[in-house]
Amino acid sequence: MKGVILAGGLGKRLWPLTKITNKHLLPVYDKPMVYYPLECLVSAGIRDVLLVTGGNNAGDFLRLLGNGKEFGLKELHYAYQEGESGIADALRLAEDFADRDKIVVVLGDNIIEKDIRQGVASFFSQPRGGRVYLKEVPDPERFGVAVFDADRIVRIEEKPAQPASHYAVIGIYMYDEQVFEFIRSLQPSARGELEITDVNNFYLEQGTLEYEILDGWWTDAGTFESLLRATNLVASGGANHTTRRPSGVLAAS
Ligand code: G1P
Repeated sequence: MKGVILAGGLGKRLWPLTKITNKHLLPVYDKPMVYYPLECLVSAGIRDVLLVTGGNNAGDFLRLLGNGKEFGLKELHYAYQEGESGIADALRLAEDFADRDKIVVVLGDNIIEKDIRQGVASFFSQPRGGRVYLKEVPDPERFGVAVFDADRIVRIEEKPAQPASHYAVIGIYMYDEQVFEFIRSLQPSARGELEITDVNNFYLEQGTLEYEILDGWWTDAGTFESLLRATNLVASGGANHTTRRPSGVLAAS
């Protein structure tokens, strides 16, 4: 299985912090934001990762992450997204890299307390389809939201004004090779983007989208409030699942 980190976008909600750098290079407590999704993939046993970014600061990722060896990666690949047409548009760039393998996609501003080992193992044995994580949140209108019929998800709604549940679909997605066909048939949403929620709805219509509830805390970090929250959670709750030692070696905590 391969990993994809989506770290593009203009980070408009963090202006002017993002005027001269990419959102995912900003600090979250003691590390640049992009370290967290990278460590999330590595701790789940994924060693082959593609980072998709764009904008004026793309070269800084190479300076920061290099070939990924320091993180325990076998290979770290890079792709450059032209324009800002949404998460699903950025994911399109991963098609050759994926090479029909299953992929785990992590949004570069999503940070979790624990790890996704179990979910990745379950997806490995899932014959086909996709897999998402849900988390109960107080402010579902900020996210993709699951609509349930009993314990089955029937639909996911992107940032609904009146959310049907309190379960947000977090920014960690697992997909089989069909994802790229689905992306090709997407139409831009009202905000002019190709939505990852529409991709998930394709899998739901096909009846192959599995889900689980994430254990431990989760936050995004794309607004001032959530960036502060991320920093506080990492500072007080122990960062993710790895800590960076002074020697530069990563070790399980
Ligand atoms: C994106 C997705 C949304 C998801 C969220 C998780 O929203 O569109 O479905 O719940 O990430 O962080 P964004 O905040 O990038 O607009």
